[in-house]
Amino acid sequence: MTGPSTRAVHAGGPPAEEGGPVVNPIVPSTTFYSDPSSGGEVLYTRYVNGPNHLALAEKLASLEGGDDAIPVASGMAAMACALLSCVRAGDHVLATDAIYGGTRVLLEDELSRLGIATTFVDLTEPAWERAFRPETRVVLGESPSNPLLRVLDLRAISDAAHRRDAVVIVDATFASPINLRPLEHGVDLVMHSATKYLGGHSDVTAGVLVGSDARIAAVRERARVWGPLLDPHACWLLERGLKTLALRMERHNANGMAIARWAEAEPGIARVHYPGLATHPDHDLAARVLDGFGGMLGMELEGGGEAATRFMRALRLAKAAPSLGGVETLVSEPRHTSHVSLTPEERASHGIRDGFVRLSLGIEDPEDLIADFAQALQAAGVSTAVSA
Ligand SMILES: Cc1ncc(COP(=O)(O)O)c(C=O)c1O
Repeated sequence: MTGPSTRAVHAGGPPAEEGGPVVNPIVPSTTFYSDPSSGGEVLYTRYVNGPNHLALAEKLASLEGGDDAIPVASGMAAMACALLSCVRAGDHVLATDAIYGGTRVLLEDELSRLGIATTFVDLTEPAWERAFRPETRVVLGESPSNPLLRVLDLRAISDAAHRRDAVVIVDATFASPINLRPLEHGVDLVMHSATKYLGGHSDVTAGVLVGSDARIAAVRERARVWGPLLDPHACWLLERGLKTLALRMERHNANGMAIARWAEAEPGIARVHYPGLATHPDHDLAARVLDGFGGMLGMELEGGGEAATRFMRALRLAKAAPSLGGVETLVSEPRHTSHVSLTPEERASHGIRDGFVRLSLGIEDPEDLIADFAQALQAAGVSTAVSA
């Protein structure tokens, strides 16, 4: 098999034909000539089976090592379709406590109304298995997690779930298939907010799922009727973004490590959360299961929330904005974004104290990012190695 960079460029590309295009064309047609009476599949954009969907699915399946894939309108749409393809009224979901806020709301407020119960557990602790119920159908993980970058032992989790006939779904948005391929660790369905690293340029909203033919067929059935198709134009943009995924991840990984090492030595930064550092609680596991430690990093500033706000305002190169995974560096405070619905005490119990800043490191030159962070620390009155 060819390497990931080669597959990112070529998988799902157009056939090499005399006079043919080198790049897949955008096909906006909503319907296609077909003859179902002779066994042909009905091709219709809402059925997520147009040419741009299929080309994109082939590239995604190839990158994740799955049989098939499906692109949909957002990460949330992907998660909703994944869950709906596995559960029905009366079923139970075991979900990681360290879950994206939108997914938590989906489970707590939406699926609960359909008669599907959820228990949140700490999937980094073996005791989570005690929460299994006879009706548990899904174990839902997120790895690495937001914003502490906790890494899950997906093999152990999958084995435990499969012993009880539960399906394992993992949101691997923070890793991308370049750094982690959950299917290789026994996971049944991998999900991404493709709005992040897969698109990579903060200009397309999409979600994807990859798994076996049977799992994706079940998701496709849900997607056909709930209707969250990805428009062919957005498919094409995502396909284009994916071509540089491996290259971009290389720089995201390098910047992650460089900024983590710099931050670790800064006196005004009380703690750095990065799985590539030996101080991270999951460092050994991360070194085994990840092919790169990624471009996401958390740091706790001395001086709490006020220092963090001053730091954010003083940034010149990095942008204060939620979301992640783009070529540009974005900085956010989880207390104002992903964890805004929790009280300060609840956040602290999740390990997110005021003063916590989340960095999504882009592909800029690391020395420019370090210079920007250093000047912002100084401007925020946080002690720095330079001023000390
Ligand atoms: C880890 C994770 N999962 C899922 C989502 C939801 O994705 P989307 O915004 O594309 O619906 C996000 C968005 O921030 C995310 O960070």
